Amino acid sequence: MTETQTIAIQKVSKSRLPDVDFDHIPFGRIFTDHMFVADYADGQWKNLRIQPYGPLALTPSISALHYGQSIFEGMKAYRMEDGSINLFRPFDNLKRIQTSAERMCMPFLPEEVFMEGLKALLHIDQAWVPEKETDSLYIRPFMFATDDYVGIRPSDTYSFVIFCCPVGAYYSEPVKVKVETYYSRSMEGGTGFAKAAGNYAAALYPAKQAQAKGYHQLVWTDSKTHQFIEESGTMNVMFVVGDTLITAPADEKILKGVTRDSVLTLARDWGLNVEERPVRVSEIAEAQKKGTLKEAFGTGTAATIAHIVLMNIEGEDYHLPSVEGRVWSNRFLKTLDDIKRGKMIDKFAWNFIL
Ligand code: COI
Repeated sequence: MTETQTIAIQKVSKSRLPDVDFDHIPFGRIFTDHMFVADYADGQWKNLRIQPYGPLALTPSISALHYGQSIFEGMKAYRMEDGSINLFRPFDNLKRIQTSAERMCMPFLPEEVFMEGLKALLHIDQAWVPEKETDSLYIRPFMFATDDYVGIRPSDTYSFVIFCCPVGAYYSEPVKVKVETYYSRSMEGGTGFAKAAGNYAAALYPAKQAQAKGYHQLVWTDSKTHQFIEESGTMNVMFVVGDTLITAPADEKILKGVTRDSVLTLARDWGLNVEERPVRVSEIAEAQKKGTLKEAFGTGTAATIAHIVLMNIEGEDYHLPSVEGRVWSNRFLKTLDDIKRGKMIDKFAWNFIL
């Protein structure tokens, strides 16, 4: 985007907003009126535009569909107590999509394109940000390769799109997980840290097998030994053992979650012992048996803070402590929510108010 580039705006003739039942919003199925689109060609982002949400004209040979050059982000906007709209930590999502793009041989996405597109879209669709305290506007920025070419090489052309969905909870109940010790999500030198579409596609088959047995999600373990916990399919995972918060280090194999970082920042600020270190599956099983495992939870933009109530480890179901007695995860959830909605001071400067 150069200084002279502006965002062309084509609005819908009739908003779909009056048709939405905000008392029953399923996650990820209702889309706001508009989307932001930008195209990359000849080494430049161009044709920045807001247009009605709807089908994109694509040819069957675009390389994203065949070779998977496709990355995305997940972020949220919140209705604050005073009615204004708050984007939570958008620059962290920008940084991560830039990191993902580099790993997947995709072009650098400048801050101006990401932030100006985001602001313009949210300005136009601001009425879609839910009022209800339990709900928010989920924002999905993504970039994909558009070369009309059958051959393995990085594409020369791309599109970057942002669309939004009003959402409620991703998980409607506390989560049951199975610790996966055969399949792998990522490895040293792989793409685990990137929010690449293919990472999620490759995880579907093992996750489906666990879901058929009644678990919501997998907890991935390291690909070499399957003895160390990495992350879950939709979120990073954390444990409170005794008085210590433990989570796997954000190395190249796991996604550096924005919620993960927010929780660790709060925990350190509150003086809780925090250990970012390899977490053995066996130590969690032993802690549960000894009664020192106090809490297990996932952290993610969609999932927020998701209590884990059951973990299947090597075929054995471990029923974890009750959700009501969980001091720390409930405090993380409430504090993050209060900050996002302007009820608590934003001492880490996470909020970006429109
Ligand atoms: C997010 O938390 O934003 C994600 O991308 C995860 C997905 C399950 C919605």
